[in-house]
Amino acid sequence: MVPKRSKPQYVSISPLMLRADSRVPFDVFLRHEGNYVLFNAAGMTLTGGQCRELAANSVNNVYIDKRSLDSYRTYLNEYITGILDDEGIPLDKRAEAWSNAAAMLGKELYEDKLPGPTFEKRYHRFEQLITSTAGFIQSPKPLKHLSGFISKGYNIYHHGISTMVYSMALMHEFGYQDFKILSCGMGALLHDIGKIGLPQDIVTKDPAELSGDEAAVLQLHPMVGARTCSCFNLSSIASNCILFHHERADGKGYPTKAGSEDIPQYVQIICLCNAYDTLTRNMPYRKALRPFEALKTIMDDDGMVEKPLLKRFVEMLSRAEIM
Ligand SMILES: [Fe+2]
Repeated sequence: MVPKRSKPQYVSISPLMLRADSRVPFDVFLRHEGNYVLFNAAGMTLTGGQCRELAANSVNNVYIDKRSLDSYRTYLNEYITGILDDEGIPLDKRAEAWSNAAAMLGKELYEDKLPGPTFEKRYHRFEQLITSTAGFIQSPKPLKHLSGFISKGYNIYHHGISTMVYSMALMHEFGYQDFKILSCGMGALLHDIGKIGLPQDIVTKDPAELSGDEAAVLQLHPMVGARTCSCFNLSSIASNCILFHHERADGKGYPTKAGSEDIPQYVQIICLCNAYDTLTRNMPYRKALRPFEALKTIMDDDGMVEKPLLKRFVEMLSRAEIM
């Protein structure tokens, strides 16, 4: 007996994400008088004429079965460069498309607990996405829209992606070369990977509530992360970002207690963006702070980061209208 297939649940997507002359691997529906009508069948090429028809009829939403979401994300990832370059698509939609693509690749990257051949392949796939979209991530205009999407989610990869975006944008402000921004971006993405093997009750506990022994375990994660990533070809710049992301300008951080004179500026940028994203993200033990509250917390924590660096960060967020 053929098992019954459950009823589809439709979710809306923007028709602007569908690229003319692309093969679309999922069914696309239109809504007409309360019914969902097939517009383009899975596997068929969407023609320019169909795209023009949607635009001419001012169709703002098309629909896909919720079970096709993974397939939709894969499709988005394949066409992401064209989508980001398309000035006809509103910036918030482009930022959403980028965030979806990054979240999909980040999720699959973190599914591998111990970096092996699959991890390396997935790492390079993510790196390819970042390389081809670096211009978009670093531009001041998309940052406002990106910040709305990347601030959501509890997983380590959500926090990694967000830390990466802020770090790359801030490094761009300082005029770093592209290869260094990319290396730091990948380091920022992976900075907390050492938390994966640690007891999750320690990782998700309010840091202020940790016992001395628990804090000592948690503080191992930069070293565990750097060691975990040492078995594949990660740049020394990215390794430094992982290893030193909890250091402080006043030398009271961990694991080495190096002060700002010994920490390269690019690492200090990761430290700052890591702190900012942690504070502005919902955590199991507290609600997210608003951007200005988070910045005030960092400002009041004398010695966490160098003041001129914090000032540049505040200026960047303010220009992006994030505060
Ligand atoms: Fe961390």
